[in-house]
Amino acid sequence: MKKRILTGITTTGTPHIGNYLGAIKPALKLANDFDESFFFLADYHAIIKNSNNNDIAESVKNIALAWLASGLDSKKSFFYRQSDVPEILELSWILNCVTAKGLMNRSHAYKAATALNSSDEDKGITMGLFSYPVLMAADILLFNATHVPVGADQIQHIEMTRDIAGRFNHLYKKTFELPEAVIQASQKIITGTDGRKMSKSYGNIIPLLSTEKVLKKSIAKIITNSLEPGVPKDPTDCSVFSLYSSFASKDEIKEFEQQYANGISWGDAKGKLFEAVNTEVTPVREKYMSLLSDTDLINDQLSDGSKKVREIAKEMLDSIRQSIGISSIR
Ligand code: TRP
Repeated sequence: MKKRILTGITTTGTPHIGNYLGAIKPALKLANDFDESFFFLADYHAIIKNSNNNDIAESVKNIALAWLASGLDSKKSFFYRQSDVPEILELSWILNCVTAKGLMNRSHAYKAATALNSSDEDKGITMGLFSYPVLMAADILLFNATHVPVGADQIQHIEMTRDIAGRFNHLYKKTFELPEAVIQASQKIITGTDGRKMSKSYGNIIPLLSTEKVLKKSIAKIITNSLEPGVPKDPTDCSVFSLYSSFASKDEIKEFEQQYANGISWGDAKGKLFEAVNTEVTPVREKYMSLLSDTDLINDQLSDGSKKVREIAKEMLDSIRQSIGISSIR
């Protein structure tokens, strides 16, 4: 059996260093150990939360560029847009028909949304939000991915995918592999400028593809306590320190710890953090700048990618249609 790795990023907002450290970089590194890798832009997931069409189009471009600028080689992997592969949506409906509503009721994302409502718990909840995990299962199962690198917040979705796959296999015939979530042991939560998890919805991101000036500014915005220079500082629970340790070597982290004990000023600490982040993202930024105006190249790569994956998708879907009784009349 082929070992296939697959992951997607929902195309809302600007790619930030949380996406880079938490998803893009580890997925590209893992791809070396797999027979085939599938990386895609989850644009049909994006319309669930965001009805701003300009935002989505802009985000698709920037997230595609973030993958390419970070070293994705579209010759060695399958790189595509979810919306270019209609077989995913077709499978999504088929899976909807074997998915228990009760399973979806237990989704953390759905429960978090209903928890905000008082008298009518389903106020403002769309079927898109409710069945989000089914679309995600279709993304994964259509290609029989064996391993899915995701952030810890997505583990439940992979478990649901396994449930749905098992249900289909039981009702019809064994068709789907049960995929495994791959959570990097070293993957800790990447903190944003306010100390919470870096996320577009908290407005606390440090962008990946900005100019040096904007990068410096976002780092300057990181909230710290007000201890003066010369006063020893505590590296635990400190966003500056925590971010620095995602970019620095063990020795550099030790040295930074010593500087905290010696009372480094916040200005100098942020200066060091900027240098570390900037060293890592400079080649990504340069590649991004060189690709930015070449929209033909991005479109060509995505269109080649979808052509390649659709061959696999069609074959799989044909066999699924046979299994469920959607076939030619005999
Ligand atoms: N739901 C994922 C997220 O928001 C994105 C995603 C969509 C995904 N489909 C996927 C991730 C399939 C892995 C596999 O982060």
